[in-house]
This record gives sequence, C-alpha cells and structure tokens, in this order.
Amino acid sequence: MQIKACNFVLFSWLLFFVLASSSSAQTCLSQTFANNRQYANCSDLPALNSYLHWTYDESAETVEVAYRHTGTTSSHWSAWGINPGGPRMVGTQALVAFVNSSGVAQAFTTSIDSLGPSMQPMELSFPVQSLSATFENNEMTIFSVLRVSQNLLSTSQVWQEGRVSNDQIQPHSTTGANVQSAGSINFLTGQSGGSSSAGSRTRRRNVHGVLNTVSWGILMPLGVITARYMKVFKSADPAWFYLHVACQSSAYVIGVAGWATGIKLGSDSPGITHNPHRTIGIILFCFGTLQVFALLLRPNKDHKYRLYWNIYHHSIGYSVIILSIVNIFEGFDILNPDDKWERIYIGILIFLGVLATLLEAFTWYVVIRRKKMNKHPAHTMNGANGHGYGATAMGQRV
Ligand SMILES: *[C@@H]1O[C@H](CO)[C@@H](O)[C@H](O)[C@H]1NC(C)=O
Ligand SMILES: *[C@@H]1O[C@H](CO)[C@@H](O)[C@H](O)[C@H]1NC(C)=O
Repeated sequence: MQIKACNFVLFSWLLFFVLASSSSAQTCLSQTFANNRQYANCSDLPALNSYLHWTYDESAETVEVAYRHTGTTSSHWSAWGINPGGPRMVGTQALVAFVNSSGVAQAFTTSIDSLGPSMQPMELSFPVQSLSATFENNEMTIFSVLRVSQNLLSTSQVWQEGRVSNDQIQPHSTTGANVQSAGSINFLTGQSGGSSSAGSRTRRRNVHGVLNTVSWGILMPLGVITARYMKVFKSADPAWFYLHVACQSSAYVIGVAGWATGIKLGSDSPGITHNPHRTIGIILFCFGTLQVFALLLRPNKDHKYRLYWNIYHHSIGYSVIILSIVNIFEGFDILNPDDKWERIYIGILIFLGVLATLLEAFTWYVVIRRKKMNKHPAHTMNGANGHGYGATAMGQRV
C-alpha cells in the first residue's frame, strides 16, 4: 500500500514536470513595446537571447518587424537580417544597431557581401522603411518595415552580436552561440526556428568533442599510467605491454576519427578558423602516428639503440598527453558547452593525477626497496637463498 502511494506521488510529480516543461510559453509573448506597438506573431530565436516580432500585411506587401536582443550592453552591436541564400552570414540583408558615442541607439542597414564585410550603411536588396532602434534595460530593439516580395516570405534569418569600439562595429565571436544564430522564418505561417544545418553542425561539433576527449584526453593518459606503473611488477610482464598497446591503439583509432571530424568541421566553416586548436590538433595527429610507427620499429630490449628509442618514445608520448589536455581545453572554449562537461573532465583529470601520484610514490618505494635488497643481499636475504629478488621478494621482507 505504502509503496503504491509513493509511486503514485512520484508519478504525479513526473507528469507535472513533463507538462510544465512542455507547455512553457514563449518568452516573446510577454514582451511589450513602447507606444503600445503590437505585432501579430512572435518567436523566441534559439540563440543569443533574441526574439523576433512581426506583422505581415498582405495588401501592402510589407512585414513590420521588431527584433529584440536582451541581456546585451551599450558597448555591443546587435543585428538581424534575412538571407534568401540560406542560414548563413554571406548574403544577409541586415539591420544593425548600436549605441553611438552620443549615447543614442543608431540603426542602419547593410548588406553582408563577404566574411569580412565593411559594415558600412548601404541599401538592401529590398526597400526598408521606418528604421529605428531603442536601447533600454540592456535590451536593444530594432524596428523596421520591410517591403518584401512574395518569394522572400519564407526565407532564412540570421542574427548576431559583437562589440563596438569608437562607434566602429567589431567582428563578432565565431564560437558558441554566435555560430548557432541562424534559422528559417516564414512570415506568412508564423513558423520560425533554428536552422537544421546549424543544429547538425552543433551535433557534429559535440561528437568531435566527445571522441577527442575520450581518446586523447582519457584513454591515452590511462595507457601511459598502465605502462609506467604496471611495468614495476615483474609478474605483470608482458601483460602491461599488451594492455598499453591495446589502450593506445584504440585511443589512436578513436582519436583519428575525432581528428577527421575536426578537419571536416574546419573545411565546412569557411571564415571560421581556430588556429591554435587546429595547429595543435595536426601536431597531435602527427605525434600519434609517429608513436604507432615507433611501436613497429621498436628495437629489441637489449639492442644498443633501445635506450634512444625509449627516450624518443617517452618524450613524444608525454608531449602528446600535455598537448591533448591543452587542446581539449581550447576545444571547450570554442564549443562552449554546458559548464558541467568541463567540470566533469577536470574531475577525471584530477582522478588520473591522484592515481598517477599514488602509483608513482608506490613505485619509488618498490624500486628503492629493491635496490636496498640488491645492495645488501647477505644482510637482508641471510646469504643463503639470494635468488629470490625482485617483485616476488617485495612482499616478504621490510
Ligand atoms: C548617434 O545616432 C544619432 C541617431 O542616429 C545621430 O543623430 C547622431 O548624430 C549619432 N552620433 C554620432 C556621434 O554619430
Ligand atoms: C500569426 O498572425 C496571424 C495574424 O494575426 C495569425 O492568424 C496566426 O495564427 C499567427 N501565427 C502564429 C503562429 O501565431
């Protein structure tokens, strides 16, 4: 009985949360405008705290729009526009606004003709009337009436923000929400949304992040820990070696897949270059591949070049670990995921660090003890049965 009641309460709560979250109203519906301006339709845009309000007037062939950008500052510009060419920057017919040095919200139109546009006021491909902007309570709102032809009623929309310095529009960031601010708009049906291509790019960026973090950032350090600390135990030879190879080669395979997704993402985003991230990624791929060859070209254990091979293998290996961690944090900066993912990764790194420190201390203890025993075999081993050194002798004597 009690369990049933409990389940019922739990179920009701779940139902409540599901209903509450699915019916969460659009924020734009509660937004108001000075002079009681009203718009027939509105939409919460999926990135950059942005909202679009509009009224389509079929007989006049105009769309009256108000683009609102909340949570901004007077040292930022805001822009919204439509792009008949697709949900992308180049081709966008943009309305731009910023607070100029007289402290007034100033609006102008500009056509984005390249990835490094002049951002100078110019006419758009369609007439624009009544352009104005207001800035209050950290909200920038751009008003205007677009005289659009039938074929522009269902089109792509793009919006953006960036810094202003000395009344000059500065380039916007090319990470996080700033590359997700594009989508579709249908002024007629009122449908508006994120772009599926922007959505799938976000998905691909997440896949890239997960593959590389797991391979370069977790499996590879684990493989190093396996090799370095299992080797001490004579009984774990050659198991440590196969474990190390298995760990590093699966990390390499997943890592190369992750690397390839990164190269593809780079070539699919013209105008967006994350130079340090890309460069470190390419170096990592080369180092990782070198390590695979190093395995194949490994001299015999007592070969005279084995020492040099060891130095080479270890230095490249540790460089890979350090560069991987650096690059994963570069990636976090670019992708800008929920903070918890970065915290989880830092947690894993701390765990690996503590594990390595403990094992390092233990290894030193083992090695020093082994040395002592080898130095004074007569003393510690009582002279007679001096053949039981090494790992097997470890646990027997202090
Ligand atoms: C700021 O914008 C207002 C409105 O567009 C304009 O009248 C004024 O001249 C501008 N000030 C500067 C310094 O450009
Ligand atoms: C958009 O506005 C028109 C005219 O008022 C209305 O008929 C239509 O239902 C609205 N669409 C949405 C999705 O709100």
